[in-house]
Amino acid sequence: MFYETLAIAGRKKETEANQRIARIAAHLQLSNLQMEESSALRRAECRAKGGSPGFKVAILGAAGGIGQPLAMLMKMNPLVSVLHLYDVVNSPGVTADLSHMDTGAVVRGFLGQQQLESALTGMDLVIIPAGVPRKPGMTRDDLFNINAGIVKTLCEGVAKSCPNAIVNLISNPVNSTVPIAAEVFKKAGTYDPKRLLGVTTLDVVRANTFVAEVLGLDPREVNVPVVGGHAGVTILPLLSQVKPPSSFTPEETEYLTNRIQNGGTEVVEAKAGAGSATLSMAYAAVKFADACLRGLRGDAGIVECAFVASQVTELPFFATEVRLGRTGAEEVFQLGPLNEYERFGLEKAKKELAGSIQKGVAFINK
Ligand SMILES: NC(=O)c1ccc[n+]([C@@H]2O[C@H](COP(=O)([O-])OP(=O)(O)OC[C@H]3O[C@@H](n4cnc5c(N)ncnc54)[C@H](O)[C@@H]3O)[C@@H](O)[C@H]2O)c1
Repeated sequence: MFYETLAIAGRKKETEANQRIARIAAHLQLSNLQMEESSALRRAECRAKGGSPGFKVAILGAAGGIGQPLAMLMKMNPLVSVLHLYDVVNSPGVTADLSHMDTGAVVRGFLGQQQLESALTGMDLVIIPAGVPRKPGMTRDDLFNINAGIVKTLCEGVAKSCPNAIVNLISNPVNSTVPIAAEVFKKAGTYDPKRLLGVTTLDVVRANTFVAEVLGLDPREVNVPVVGGHAGVTILPLLSQVKPPSSFTPEETEYLTNRIQNGGTEVVEAKAGAGSATLSMAYAAVKFADACLRGLRGDAGIVECAFVASQVTELPFFATEVRLGRTGAEEVFQLGPLNEYERFGLEKAKKELAGSIQKGVAFINK
């Protein structure tokens, strides 16, 4: 009797220990851990035990220069309950590292295309910084050949596994990758223009910073709408609409417009071959993702700039301020009154944008 009780207690302890080990290892989601569906720790259980109430977010390209700080900042976001980190390299290490942070979100890693479906299933928001960045002397368009294919594959995964998720697309050239994603979703029959958002927040973040410097203000008090697209002359800061209302000399306008349009190149050259903006981009991506999540939660008055399907100009996509709500970009705002300098800039921006959009559409329909 005594030995039988001991044996039962021993087995119970062993089961508990196995369950504990499985729970600790769950975030890694690696095939070499042999995590079977029949395991005591199914994904749903893990989510219920570890997760705080909130949204499920996936980052595709999570081990990259942007992906890693972005993943860390999203792990710190109280609106996130589950964070899936997908990449074709190094996602287990990034996941193990971030999983030790004592924040509410449960973090899990996914490695390689065969795990893309698991990474995406059930997600509310998918953030895509996957792809190659610029080196000195390159334009964003030079990245097209590699990144177009990556974005196509990942968006096919989204269409299959989480067709109702909001997509934040960061991979460059955004002016072409957003049209690519739209065509992929159209082909799959899942396209909802409200849910596809090209991330241009870094242009706004830079504009706020540079304008604040010129005005001698705290950048947190400044808001500059930046419209058009996300490359060179397609980046059009509307300095006439800066808040708080401010005026600029022609020299200041020229300096600020050039610096905002070339902010990315400034970083690429300073990094001298080691990539493009990653830390400020991760900050900007989280600012935007957080706004999307607050919109999904039903908060009122969430307005950010983004590159979206649009009827503001004759082009099918254009970046302007949009209102984010439960279903994505629920309202796309008009440009508002432009001064002569901005009207001239708009014409230049539209000309270049038209070609970039067409290039993206043609890539899918070739
Ligand atoms: N929208 C913006 O404002 C903005 C700003 C800066 C950079 N970017 C762009 O973001 C992208 C990423 O930049 P980065 O500096 O993080 O580059 P990076 O090379 O450091 O990281 C990219 C990551 O993507 C991963 N990856 C490649 N192919 C993949 C695939 N098929 N599936 C999943 N992951 C894949 C890589 O393994 C890598 O970890 C680039 O295209 C860059 O131009 C956009």
